[in-house]
Amino acid sequence: MRTIAVYPGSFDPPTYGHLDIIDRSSRVFSRVIVAVARNIRKEVLFTTAERIDMLKQLTRSYSNVEVDSFKGLLMSYAADKGAHVVVRGLRAISDFEYEFQMAHMNKKLADDVDTVFMMTGERYSYISSNIVREIAGFGGKIDDLVPELVRERVFRKMGKRGKS
Ligand code: PNS
Repeated sequence: MRTIAVYPGSFDPPTYGHLDIIDRSSRVFSRVIVAVARNIRKEVLFTTAERIDMLKQLTRSYSNVEVDSFKGLLMSYAADKGAHVVVRGLRAISDFEYEFQMAHMNKKLADDVDTVFMMTGERYSYISSNIVREIAGFGGKIDDLVPELVRERVFRKMGKRGKS
């Protein structure tokens, strides 16, 4: 069976935690679509095009991973793509409540789509895009949290040099 999975998120910016989920999803599903959300009610550091560009570069070596963006409901996007699986990473219990609500709501919207949770690898479990932006905002070291390409762009965007 060829299973198409969508891995949606803000990816503002992509972190090692996201890349861990992409890597593992690519071994489980035949095709993984990393879908950057465009209409999130959040203030973002990077434009959609910038987030897509970073993710494309970071996933270049995977032949079954593609990067796209979506606007509107995730379930409508999944239907358009013929995807029956949504992948989400779970870092800690604190993620659970929000993910639980979202998975159930999505199931109500589209019964033929299942959300599959992957536990983010232990060494990445404390990483979030918010933490990356916060630390970088104060000029702190983010090398262990994001790849070099992302590190450079975060500091460039913030007009800071940052530590390495
Ligand atoms: O990385 P994030 O910010 O946790 O990702 C959240 C995202 C983008 C996956 C979620 O907000 C989403 O799916 N938004 C699209 C709108 C939608 O379908 N909302 C209903 C879900 S309950």
